[in-house]
Formats: sequence, structure tokens, C-alpha cells
Amino acid sequence: MMTLMVNGGYLAWREQALRALAEGWSPEELCWAEASPDLGRQGQQIGLEYEASHAPLPSPVSLQEPQAQQPVSSVSVRISKGLAALLQDAALCRAPARWALLYRVLWRWHQGDRSVESVADEDGARLYEMAKAVRKEKHDMMAYVRFRHCGKGMQPEYWAWFEPEHDVLEWIADYFSKRMGGTSWCIATPQGLALWDGRNLQLQDAPDNIEALRAGPADDQVEALWLRYYQSIFNPARLNETALQQSMPVRFWKGLPEASLIPAMISEARNGARRVGQFSAVARMPGKSVAVEAHSAQPYRSEPSVLEACRRCGLWEHATQAVPGEGPTTARMMLLGEQPGDYEDLAGRVFVGPAGQVLDQALQRAGIERNALYLSNAVKHFKWKGRGKQRLHVSPSQAEVQACGHWLQEELARLEPAVIVTLGATALSALLGTQVPLAQYLAKPFLLGQTWVIAAWHPSYALRVDSAARREEIVSSITQVLQMGWRLATGSATDEGLAAGINSAA
Ligand code: URA
Repeated sequence: MMTLMVNGGYLAWREQALRALAEGWSPEELCWAEASPDLGRQGQQIGLEYEASHAPLPSPVSLQEPQAQQPVSSVSVRISKGLAALLQDAALCRAPARWALLYRVLWRWHQGDRSVESVADEDGARLYEMAKAVRKEKHDMMAYVRFRHCGKGMQPEYWAWFEPEHDVLEWIADYFSKRMGGTSWCIATPQGLALWDGRNLQLQDAPDNIEALRAGPADDQVEALWLRYYQSIFNPARLNETALQQSMPVRFWKGLPEASLIPAMISEARNGARRVGQFSAVARMPGKSVAVEAHSAQPYRSEPSVLEACRRCGLWEHATQAVPGEGPTTARMMLLGEQPGDYEDLAGRVFVGPAGQVLDQALQRAGIERNALYLSNAVKHFKWKGRGKQRLHVSPSQAEVQACGHWLQEELARLEPAVIVTLGATALSALLGTQVPLAQYLAKPFLLGQTWVIAAWHPSYALRVDSAARREEIVSSITQVLQMGWRLATGSATDEGLAAGINSAA
């Protein structure tokens, strides 16, 4: 088995591949290794002349090196323009076996097997899949890179942070250098930096302190303007949360300054702002108000008046009954779970099964009476699959969570809790109207409108871990969150003061 080292991305692979073809080494005889998993450069600073960075390949494409640089043993392979584009894009995909796949495709093409270019072929399909992922990443980077102003006279003038899933930094740097003229900028990623000084592009491997660069410049006047603008063009009457999440995936949010506004805007839209067709500040301007009647702002649906009659999604069909929230409607603190389990489905009551027992244990430790709280679930019907005589829990889909959001909103409007403790990722995402990583929110109180929200583990998590120590950690973490929530709910401190204390304690 021969090992070929790729040090420098597509061009380095191409050189090795041509040599291997000339030697007649089949894909099975080769093992491909990568010098560096990121930009394909080892430590050193690479300066790229911008003009030369992306010379388009002619069609049909020759993979042959120019005569002067041609290695001693090399072959000329003519491939179609489409295949050349696919190879170049797939080469940027951070898939573990990318170079081996690219060589197998080239080898088969060289053997006269043209089916390898087809999406119906197994290798072809993988190649298309990788190229597609890279093209999507390029598009996303064009759409979601946000430059922040570093200040007058600073070099570079603009700075952006992005976390691409594939090696598209060089490509995107080329793209922006063509559009931002003589303005200097830097795009930083966890793998490396692209620096444009107005004339030349430099790509550098990430310095050791790259994580410290993530936050970017602190005082950006332009950003405040951008946030104001973003808020003012948001039209709550036209909010489509599914489309929003699809077109602006949550993984990009941390690099988008406007993302911090979105949860509150969604919440406002749900809480009645849909009736006003524009951001309230715009709507208040004389002659600018675009009033929309509630019934025309949303598509018509026949509304079931009682939970038990709910047919908003298909879960009712296999559940015994809908399980409503329970507790005093005057409760200041609400606990929100995911969905009823097997026991709850049969009993028609929330948190009465094994997860409920863990929750009771945490409540007892926190010194909170269960009947002082309102308990509910993001989804009101039990979703399950059968195994033998057992009914096993299945997580609700996003569509089901969304469909049940109607009942959650109705409960929130009725209760107006001061504090909501979400149990598990589904409850948190249901409340925010978008999927978010639970780990980032755990035990950190934040305001959603007027309501404090604190995320905790779901009690059933404690039942799934093997070690008693881990189980204990989870139960005490839930206990701590319940205590934080209770202190906020009972007003034993001011909101800001307590939240600051809680955040640092968490
Ligand atoms: N798990 C939940 O999320 N809710 C319940 O009511 C029971 C188990």
C-alpha cells in the first residue's frame, strides 16, 4: 500500500493523482493522507497574488501540468468541464476520504468509465453530494458573513468571524475581494484567516489565540445602525418561522449581530404584533401604519376549541388522550417538559411517570411545592413506537412541536408566568420558536419579553445515564435551576441583580 500525501488542497492532490495514474497505481493500492486538515498549509504564512488565485480551467479541461513544471512521470487526462468543476468543489469538502474518492473517480474516468460522472453511479453520487455541500457552504458564507467596523484608521478596517464546515475560506475571500474594492478586511475562521489589504490577499493558518478573535471589534457604530435597520424592516405579519430557520440556519446565528434580535421579534409577533404590519416604531410614524386584520395576517385554519379535539398534527391518533398542563393559573413559575410519556398518556396527567419522580426529587431538594407550580409540555400528545408490548418514547418532530405551539401560546397568554423553566432541548426550542443547542442555555436565565426563561436538563436524562455520579450531577443541576427560577418568581431579588448573581453562580 502506497501512501500519498496531499499538502495544499486540490492542486497538490492533482499533482499526486497524475503521478499515480502515470505509475498505473489503482485506487486500492493507495492510501491518501492529508498534511493539514484545514487550509492544507503547514504553519507558514502564505501570500497569494489575488489575480492568480483562481485561473479558470479551460474546457475540455486538461489536467496536465504546464510543460516546465511537469513531473518526470505524469500523464495527460482530459476530463469534461462539469467533472472538473465537481472535482474542484468536492476537494473543498471536509469529508475524511475526499482525496481517495477524487482519485477513484479520476482513475475510473481514465480507464474510460464515463458513468463515474453520473449521479446514478455510487462514486458519482458521493462526488455530487460533496460538491453540493461545498456549494451550499459558499452560498451561506456569502449570505452570512458580517463585516464589523474596526474603527477609523485601523488595519484592517473591517473584520468578520465565520465557522465554515468546509474549506471555502479561500474561495469566499476571492469573492469579497472582488466586491469590496480597496477597503481592507479580515475574515477569521477557526482554521485560518483571510486578509485583504485592498490589493493583495493573504491566507494564514489560525494563530493560537484565534478563539480570542471570535468576538471581533467592540464598538461598531455601523452595527448599531444595521440592527436598527434590520428591526425596522421586520414585518411581524409576514413572519414564517419555518422559512426563517430554513433560510437562516441556527448554526450561523452566533456570527450574525441581528440574530440576537430574532427571538424577541418572534415572541412579539406571536404576542399580537402580527396585527401591525411593521415594526411598531415605523407603524407609529404618521401615514406609515400598515394595519392588518388578525384574520388576514395568518392563513385560515379551523380552530379546535378544546385540547382534546385537537387535530393539528397526527399524534392524537395513537395517543390515549391529550394531556393538558396542570397547576394553579396564578402560578408565577411554569415548568415546561417535552411531551407526555407512557404513564402520563394513560393517566392524563403531566409528569407522573419515572421522569416525574426525578423531577419530584429535584423539587423536594429545592424546597419547592409542586402544587405551587404550573406544569405543562411543549407537545400534548404522547408520540411512541411499539416494541413488543412496550410503547417507546419518540421525540416529536419540529412540525409537531410547531403545531402544538398553539396550545402553548394559549397557556402562556392565560398564565403570564414570571418564570419558565424549560426541561430539555425540545421545550426550550418550542418556547423560542427555533432549534437551539441546549448546552449554551443551561442554567443561564434570560428574558423573553417580560418572562424569565431558564433552561434545565430534562429529568429523563438522569434515567438514561449509567453512572450514579453523573445521575447525581444532573439532578443537582436541575435542582439549582429550579431554585434560581423560584427566587426570580418570588421576587427575592431584582431581576437584573439576581440574574447577574445567577449567571455567575451557574
Ligand atoms: N416527560 C415530559 O417531558 N413530560 C411529561 O409529562 C412526562 C415525561
